[in-house]
Amino acid sequence: ALPHDLEGRRVVISAGGTREPMDPVRYLGNRSSGRQGYALARVAAHRGAHVTLVSAHTADLVEPSGVRVVHAGTAERMRSLMLAESEGADVVVMAAAVADFRPVDRPDHKVKKTDRDPDPLQLTRNPDILAELVETREAGRLDAEVIVGFAAETGDPDTTVLEHGRTKLTRKRCDLLVVNAVGDGAAFEVEDNAGWLLGADGVEHPIPHGSKSHLASALWDAVSGQFARNETP
Ligand code: C5P
Repeated sequence: ALPHDLEGRRVVISAGGTREPMDPVRYLGNRSSGRQGYALARVAAHRGAHVTLVSAHTADLVEPSGVRVVHAGTAERMRSLMLAESEGADVVVMAAAVADFRPVDRPDHKVKKTDRDPDPLQLTRNPDILAELVETREAGRLDAEVIVGFAAETGDPDTTVLEHGRTKLTRKRCDLLVVNAVGDGAAFEVEDNAGWLLGADGVEHPIPHGSKSHLASALWDAVSGQFARNETP
């Protein structure tokens, strides 16, 4: 039986990949399936949490039962939904693959290959939603006890990936970072995941190769451990 250790907790999870429109028919996107975020939502709901899933584009996934799902197609839309939905949340998880850039222009006609102007691939930087959530909390406008980020890194899982993860955790200033080794059939568009769970308190847990539900359980164990520590006087 699953523990009910998240009973009554409010959890907001982003999932999937954003698509940044270039014109009415094209977009810049990524290969995120949304499976990890959906697994996180399903497991959290089973463990008693009130879950809101902010879903970008995903593979053809079944909406987890007992979970409120809201849709965000682009990074900018996800940013405003995450900031709004996180109000009053105990845990915020950014599992979505957010496009780092979006096209500057979005003409309302299909861009032809003979068009020179506007340049369809002139890009501008998207907001870093995770960084903004952390900054919002630092400014005292967000109460979430635990903010979780994800990082997909290529390289040797036990050296390069771990090093990148440590650096990213320091830079992002979130409480927990799940670091996934990507490439060689791991993480994207597949059922399995492996990597590291890194805590701002210095805790480092290897996550052995396993299902995305398994990784979800490991993350919620860490989050509920954090709750328990925060409650100890
Ligand atoms: O820096 P990097 O993109 O690898 O960081 C990944 C983490 O940051 C993920 O948790 C992702 O959801 C989040 N992110 C974000 N906004 C962006 C880019 C990434 O919240 N524009």
